[in-house]
Amino acid sequence: MRIVVGVAGGIAAYKTCELVSRLVQAGHEVRVIMTSAATAFVGPLTFEALSGHPVSTQATDVSEGPLSHITLAHWAEAMVVAPATAGLIARFATGRAEDMLSLVYLGFRGPVLVAPAMEPDMWTHPRTEMNVGILRSDGVHIVGPREGRMASGREGIGRMAEPWELMEALEDVITPQDLAHVRMVVTAGSTWEHFDPVRLLTNPSTGLMGVLIANAAARRGAHVHLITGPAVQVPVHHLVTRSTVTSAVEMLQAVEKVMEAADVFVGAAAVSDFRPVESLTHKMHKESLPLTWKMQTNPDIIAMVAQKYHGHKLIVGFAAETQAPVEQAALKLRKKGLDAIVANLVGHQEGFGSGQHHSWLVTAQGAHPIPGDDKACTANVLLDWIERKLKES
Ligand code: C5P
Repeated sequence: MRIVVGVAGGIAAYKTCELVSRLVQAGHEVRVIMTSAATAFVGPLTFEALSGHPVSTQATDVSEGPLSHITLAHWAEAMVVAPATAGLIARFATGRAEDMLSLVYLGFRGPVLVAPAMEPDMWTHPRTEMNVGILRSDGVHIVGPREGRMASGREGIGRMAEPWELMEALEDVITPQDLAHVRMVVTAGSTWEHFDPVRLLTNPSTGLMGVLIANAAARRGAHVHLITGPAVQVPVHHLVTRSTVTSAVEMLQAVEKVMEAADVFVGAAAVSDFRPVESLTHKMHKESLPLTWKMQTNPDIIAMVAQKYHGHKLIVGFAAETQAPVEQAALKLRKKGLDAIVANLVGHQEGFGSGQHHSWLVTAQGAHPIPGDDKACTANVLLDWIERKLKES
């Protein structure tokens, strides 16, 4: 995507270097516009090196031709302004196009993200509040500011949002909403089956795959309810509703509660197959630990969902296998009555805990290798398939 990054004169401008670097690394084409005050904080050469293009610093700049502001406004597909000072926000809000950045802002008609950064007293001043309100009502996305320590040493609200937050906010804004109105339930992570309060049966799943699916679906506009096991640490998108459970039985109860209202179920959790028949409420001491323990099978959550809703809701499972993943997945697809299974290899090099895996999408029509080995890509390929299936039905 072609992105104009605007930099105003604030100390947080040093963080914008990382933002530009991240944007370029993510494959975006970036042109940087600095106000002249910004150049007192970071030299244009830094942004030229990071973006690989000349940086505009003056309203009269002609680096993009005699009408640079119009060329840039028409070239850009998105604008990110970080840091945005109180003065720049005032110029945007009142249309006072006195510098190159405000000129391009007025001429641009796509999504704009603004990351304010200023002293807390300036942020809470009624004039700033009014100007920010005007920008919001014009459809500008305001990201931050965050609370914390200011350059002055004071604490308060006024710190610029971090580069990763701005990257995420930009992704949210530019992602097509092709799953809007779709209601999805996703399970992720391992379950814990306790023998006693300090001993349990579990597996190495980190929940990464399920969380990536939930996050990507939310970003594409779906209403997502994510039900995770207790050990999932992967950051969850702020638009995802999350419940955390401990055991397989609790996970089933949580799924049953929300499934009626859903259109799609994605079972990415690595649910424990067994649980102890007896789970003690107090810690057993080593001397009295039995060497054999009576176990019982856990409910198969996805099979129960499929039994109730097959044909009415889309049901997608996962099959993590060390051998013959496609064949195993095809068997599970039939046995559990699912619409699709993502089959993937797990072993020492990939699978649990890693961002990479080899995977196939297995349906009644056959198996297709999912291109690439990145779990975030797998999530979007699966969501593309879900989107197509929902459209067909
Ligand atoms: O049978 P297996 O555990 O290999 O099947 C994996 C699929 O079934 C995954 O989608 C997993 O989330 C789901 N599953 C489940 N409840 C179980 C066991 C597996 O929902 N008790």
